[in-house]
Amino acid sequence: MTTATRARPRAGLWRLPGVYVPQGDTLLLGRALRSEDIRPGAEVLDIGTGSGALALLAARMGATVTATDVSWRAVLTAKANAFRHGRHIRVRHGDLAGPLSDGSRFDLVVTNPPYVPAPAARPPSRGAARAWDAGHDGRLVLDRVLAHAPRLLRPGGVLLMVHSTMCGVDVSLDILAAAGMTAEVTQRALTPYGPVLTGRLPWLRATGLASGCHGGERPIEELAVVRAERR
Ligand SMILES: C[S@@+](CC[C@H](N)C(=O)[O-])C[C@H]1O[C@@H](n2cnc3c(N)ncnc32)[C@H](O)[C@@H]1O
Repeated sequence: MTTATRARPRAGLWRLPGVYVPQGDTLLLGRALRSEDIRPGAEVLDIGTGSGALALLAARMGATVTATDVSWRAVLTAKANAFRHGRHIRVRHGDLAGPLSDGSRFDLVVTNPPYVPAPAARPPSRGAARAWDAGHDGRLVLDRVLAHAPRLLRPGGVLLMVHSTMCGVDVSLDILAAAGMTAEVTQRALTPYGPVLTGRLPWLRATGLASGCHGGERPIEELAVVRAERR
């Protein structure tokens, strides 16, 4: 391990309105990222960078970082935060790894994609909810990331992805195993429902997605970080 710093996703990042505020899932994924053996110059891709919190963390750990986001506001925000913190991060606008040249390969891909189950079948094409809404089962973007991940990684490369256990952690592990990756859950955290899930509680209960949630009056969701290694 050559990460001499105890880097953390930084609070107080600047944001344009509508850009995702780094929160519990960002922090949990940041904890997973800090446990990785990131050597100086290792190439890291942050898919769905938002404010750039995780991209900045990887840069402070010594990585050469590329970040993408489908939101122009997020792209501008992440660029501004990289500049303000004196880090060079290549930030590109577009869908997943679409803006990168074919054949781009990374040592590590980190992603906190939208994963909140939503009454709408399709993800929104604009607005703040694009950062979290992900279809009825919450897997619309997750599954696309999982389909892309193996070819974005060098042999030995690592995918770190956070999502709610409501979306089915075993589904993610099975997809990764079927793609020949060694996958496991390395971090878990319980967190009270935020305003989005709370507002959807009747729908989540009706669909059975909230049945596994912990807690009584204030339901609690579980977040998990899936770590997968390309052989
Ligand atoms: C939950 S937020 C995470 C932001 C940041 N990584 C963090 O952890 O604080 C998800 C981000 O993914 C972006 N996003 C949603 N769909 C995307 C897609 N298809 N391709 C790239 N980015 C996407 C959203 O704009 C949003 O910034």
